[in-house]
Amino acid sequence: MVTKYREIDTESRIAIDADKLIVGKRLPFDVFVKDRGIIKHLFNKGMPFTNISKEILKEKGISEVYILNNESHSIENYLSATADKKISPYDNPALFKQYSFYKDEHYQIDKNLLLSNTKINFSLFVLEGFNIKTIVEASEKSSALITDSVLDAEGDILIKKSDMPLYHNYINSLLKEKAASDKPDIKAIAIKENSKIVIKDLLDDPRSGEKIKESKLLVNNMIDCMFQNRDSIYNLLTLRGYDYYTYTHSVNVGVLSIGLGVAIDLKKGDIEKLGIGAMLHDIGKSALPHEILNKQGKLDDIEYKVLRNHVIEGEKILRTHKEIPEESFAAVLQHHEKLTGKGYPFQLSGNDIKLFGRITAIADCYDALTTRRPYKPAFTPFYALSIVAEETGDYDPDLLKTFIKMLGKIK
Ligand SMILES: [Fe+2]
Ligand SMILES: [Fe+2]
Repeated sequence: MVTKYREIDTESRIAIDADKLIVGKRLPFDVFVKDRGIIKHLFNKGMPFTNISKEILKEKGISEVYILNNESHSIENYLSATADKKISPYDNPALFKQYSFYKDEHYQIDKNLLLSNTKINFSLFVLEGFNIKTIVEASEKSSALITDSVLDAEGDILIKKSDMPLYHNYINSLLKEKAASDKPDIKAIAIKENSKIVIKDLLDDPRSGEKIKESKLLVNNMIDCMFQNRDSIYNLLTLRGYDYYTYTHSVNVGVLSIGLGVAIDLKKGDIEKLGIGAMLHDIGKSALPHEILNKQGKLDDIEYKVLRNHVIEGEKILRTHKEIPEESFAAVLQHHEKLTGKGYPFQLSGNDIKLFGRITAIADCYDALTTRRPYKPAFTPFYALSIVAEETGDYDPDLLKTFIKMLGKIK
């Protein structure tokens, strides 16, 4: 039976009882809630609705949720269906293997740099669920135009790893074109995309002094962007629930930390030191075995110990680079420490955790939550912020307040 629903605002969303959401089933629509009179995006379409999601609704005292009118056609089917049996390739070794293989062969790019009617000489793919589909076929010998239908594709846009130099050339030629380079958002996204490429190269070759210099330069460009316009943080982040890649995560944590540094009025020189440390905070992951980083299933105690070692490995790597300022090391060494003393590697607590460590810890946790994993959906920014804020005592409360305010515009 269909529940009663009614129109609630001019943007035509309809309300349904929160109780009607089915645990164990993917949501066929985006779910919104009303928070102090403002509509906020709480759950992403496609995300499995779990007992934890249900708990969050209960804790917040939410009894009614909203969905977009144009997605209302899916309600009746949804409400009459039962829970999905298998909702994650986590349970399916063959699917997981295929998914890991795709991810290894491809590189994730930002769709916002793909401008309609522009020529490209590399193919484009879209990650749909755990499958990959070609959406543009192109090569150095035969280029293709980006059409509007390509831009409508939903899901992560990928290129072949071997095409990364061609993509890099594409970004640079875009920046040379006056019409595009005059747009501040294109400039910011290009800086972000170039940073991802440099971090990806650094993860493959962490001893490269040249790449360290390049990343410092890009951090400076990001800071300039943010000083000119604080809203450019939204262009510098890869926002929508993307699949986890260490390079994208690293750049996001760098951007979020720089943003927080700007918001608390740090001096430019200090923000540079914070930014480079935050951007390279997980560089130690380059030293970990592939099987642990990409394991299907939970890590056992020994594997978890190895994973935690990325902090110390990161320090070791960065010590070989004279260009890294001493202050930046706090971001690398302390991003998993918690004010309560429950973090790692040194179980530091309270004031023993330096400012750069505290900032990077918040940025790291927030980005991890808004990232998708085969066994975990991407949380919306609002949902992620409510989780970080609830971890009482783990994070610096004043910084957290500023962080939430800084990202408050994201619905
Ligand atoms: Fe980490
Ligand atoms: Fe991290």
